[in-house]
Amino acid sequence: MIELEDVWKVFGTDERAVLNEARRPAPDEAVLKRLRAVTGVGGASFKVEKGELVCLMGLSGSGKSTLLRLINRLLEPSAGQVRIDGGDILSLGRKALRELRSQRIGMVFQSHALVAHLSIRDNVALPLEIRGLARTQREDRADELLARVGLEGLGDRRVSALSGGMQQRVGLARALAADPDILLMDEPFSALDPLIRYDLQTQFMALSRELGKTTVFVTHDVDEAFRIADRVVLMRGGRIIQVGTADTLVNEPADDYVRRFVRNARLPERLDQQPSKTRAFA
Ligand SMILES: Nc1ncnc2c1ncn2[C@@H]1O[C@H](COP(=O)(O)OP(=O)(O)OP(=O)(O)O)[C@@H](O)[C@H]1O
Ligand SMILES: [Mg+2]
Repeated sequence: MIELEDVWKVFGTDERAVLNEARRPAPDEAVLKRLRAVTGVGGASFKVEKGELVCLMGLSGSGKSTLLRLINRLLEPSAGQVRIDGGDILSLGRKALRELRSQRIGMVFQSHALVAHLSIRDNVALPLEIRGLARTQREDRADELLARVGLEGLGDRRVSALSGGMQQRVGLARALAADPDILLMDEPFSALDPLIRYDLQTQFMALSRELGKTTVFVTHDVDEAFRIADRVVLMRGGRIIQVGTADTLVNEPADDYVRRFVRNARLPERLDQQPSKTRAFA
């Protein structure tokens, strides 16, 4: 469904020159320094299957957000291929790209960028208003989504009156509003305290599976990644170090870095072993 092939995103005073140097088998450090080179993402290749939930995991600065933004071309790759359902998104014109983003891809960020003076319902309905849906239709759809994320009956409230966890739920409902088949999520739960975060993870896993969304989810937290992901993409310094299930990363780490990274991780639990209270939610 999503396919990246040898994708690069480099930064510096001369992107092309940085790319050429960084791609050499033995890049010249002095040249890279002179170009103020940063390899945001270096030669990333991986696939996400339809309905799969993949986590991009790594320390701060490892390139997770950069990689996520290359998937919907919020960032223009320096090199490489990005395909969605086999279609090359780098060849899309402005209009086709806008359609792809508004109809097929929902995005959720750490800070959710809700519109403070609008009601919760209107925030969720915003993408539908942009698509020209009639008021009653979009309000019905927004209320349905609010119920899905556990905010039933709260549509009339202002978003400024909500807790962080509730605001993230609104952000999620908004990302789901246009019924995209792909969700891109950048540390959506990172700012929340552990209990609320755990609950939201549980609810999100159930929701994403029930709705069959294809999801790429960024996190720096190995417990979160192992808990929710079908597969994990571990990044370091812009490079993908290993792609695999939690089991694979723990039992067959590609190198010492992976071994150290996952050493203290909690083993993933299965959704169907969790209390029915949380499952009933979805
Ligand atoms: N516009 C830019 N110009 C220059 N360097 C950039 C730019 N955007 C990102 N970088 C660099 O690319 C690297 C990867 O950044 P990125 O934001 O993808 O990391 P991250 O894994 O998301 O980190 P975090 O967990 O802190 O969000 C970093 O070294 C960052 O400084
Ligand atoms: Mg980031």
